[in-house]
Amino acid sequence: MKTRVTELLNIEYPIIMGGMAWAGTAKLAAAVSEAGALGIIGSGSMTPDILREEIRKAKKLTSKPIGVNILLLSPYVDDLVKVAMEEGVSAITFGAGNPAKYIPELKEKGIKVIPVVAADSLAKLVERSGADAVIAEGMESGGHIGEVTTIVLVNKVARTVSIPVIAAGGIADGRGMAAAFALGAEGVQMGTRFVATEEAEVHEEFKRRIVKASIRDTVVTGAKLGHPARVLKTPFAKKIVELETKSFEEAEKLLLGSLRRAVVEGDVQGGSFMAGQSSGLINDIKPVKEVIKDIMEEFEKAINQLCEKRSEWWR
Ligand SMILES: Cc1cc2nc3c(=O)[nH]c(=O)nc-3n(C[C@H](O)[C@H](O)[C@H](O)COP(=O)(O)O)c2cc1C
Repeated sequence: MKTRVTELLNIEYPIIMGGMAWAGTAKLAAAVSEAGALGIIGSGSMTPDILREEIRKAKKLTSKPIGVNILLLSPYVDDLVKVAMEEGVSAITFGAGNPAKYIPELKEKGIKVIPVVAADSLAKLVERSGADAVIAEGMESGGHIGEVTTIVLVNKVARTVSIPVIAAGGIADGRGMAAAFALGAEGVQMGTRFVATEEAEVHEEFKRRIVKASIRDTVVTGAKLGHPARVLKTPFAKKIVELETKSFEEAEKLLLGSLRRAVVEGDVQGGSFMAGQSSGLINDIKPVKEVIKDIMEEFEKAINQLCEKRSEWWR
């Protein structure tokens, strides 16, 4: 399959792994790349030295393109970008803003720049700054979110920019991928689906809860604190939602380190299990290769079914 996204990133399938702090390890990223999509190491709160180690680890596991996700809010952002350049990653996805100041040097080194946006205005801005593609991430997503749904955001962004659009948020299967393509996307990014895989190095409790979840089993925490994040409904998430209306400081204190407690310790009393509404579409934990194979098969089937229906609908 060829789209502008597969061509840009030199990958087999137009699927990329969402950058995921703590959950996006070298092992998972390498498995995604090996399977023909683009694996992304989530640098999250990593120091530059740890990121360097992770990139080297991933490169030992795969010779295929590998990318890195960098949060522009990281205190180490300049050095993380430098490490990614030195270690020769194929692409960087940037969260939380416009990475304009890094773009000229990254382009010079042939590293593709793909910012994550939650609004068409930012998509336009990053295109003007020279981004190679854009990830339009809707509020169905796991992790930190904006306010607009994937169906409206991807549609709008695809009409706004001429660089390739990658849809994210709520996509976990081939039907979702086909819907995103109908809106104008030429690739998809998935986070939650890749957490529920054999290769994901997250606590078993996290995987189990995704598989068990219904489409209504997520909740948004931190909205009142100015940093909304979609997480699985747990006793901890409920506590935060209640507390954030009462005590800003106390809620912030509890949230500190809570993603690590979920991913590493499986702590349902003190951890934020970041996951999207797509959890309700995920019923199994399987190898990454199978996830990608199944999605590509269902994607093609969904498009063929639409083509077949065409003659039935327009008689
Ligand atoms: C556990 C987890 C951690 C995440 N951490 C980050 C992050 O560090 N940086 C980022 O840009 N996005 C982050 N995200 C968002 C993903 O990159 C992706 O856009 C999102 O998961 C897509 O929606 P989906 O979960 O419905 O597939 C995270 C998502 C999850 C589930």
